[in-house]
Amino acid sequence: MARTPVIAGNWKMNLDHLEAIQLVRQLVYHLVADVFDAAELVGVPPFTALRSLQSLIEGDRLRLALGAQTCSEHDAGAYTGEVSPVMLAALRVRYVICGHSERRTLFGETDEVVNRKVAAALRAGMTPILCVGESGEQRDAGVADAVVTRQVRAGLAGVAPEQVAQLVVAYEPIWAIGTGRTATPDDADAMCGVVRATVADVAGTDAADAVRVQYGGSVKPGNIRELMSRPHVDGALVGGASLDAEDFAVICRFSRR
Ligand code: 13P
Repeated sequence: MARTPVIAGNWKMNLDHLEAIQLVRQLVYHLVADVFDAAELVGVPPFTALRSLQSLIEGDRLRLALGAQTCSEHDAGAYTGEVSPVMLAALRVRYVICGHSERRTLFGETDEVVNRKVAAALRAGMTPILCVGESGEQRDAGVADAVVTRQVRAGLAGVAPEQVAQLVVAYEPIWAIGTGRTATPDDADAMCGVVRATVADVAGTDAADAVRVQYGGSVKPGNIRELMSRPHVDGALVGGASLDAEDFAVICRFSRR
């Protein structure tokens, strides 16, 4: 089955709304129209830039989807400081990153919390980007497959197979995030394959054929082409390199199979 690649730039806690507008303007300037047919492109800014980018994207009819970096597991109520998935959907945010390793390690998000956020994003009509990935110690101990399998199973618990088919899973080994040390294309493909096999296990082969699996961790203009040439790699979740319009444009351009 032909899966449309999905390339997402996770800006993390960088760029205020004015800088975000500038980056998107530069990005579309560097992109040629056929890129938009070859891949789905997603910008994932801090919450404070979502409204400005929504206006820019809709006003100029840009073919860039918006994503959020996390969301509350609740729709509304007394949860000071949280951001509701329903309110994100009202800004036409299409994707929500759930369970990024920084949320798991720095903010204590467990597999159960991540699963509830996946459910909340789906309930609001958005597409979760479920992040999974092992630490360096876990890889050295030979338990990377087991860790990723557990995270995928737990993250997707209770999600209907038809919904699993629609979503995105990002394999992001923690040791590759922000380190400049990328997984080899073969390792990335093998682990994205583990994700797909687990999806087949929990939601069936149709869902596994349809689900898009991204690789993330030090994706750069110099390594995207090889990563994307592998059968199980359906896209990339890009951190640092997505903050540079030219670099991110090159990554988007090489997202073709
Ligand atoms: P880097 O591309 O900076 O390694 O970050 C990856 C990441 O965490 C994307 O979510």
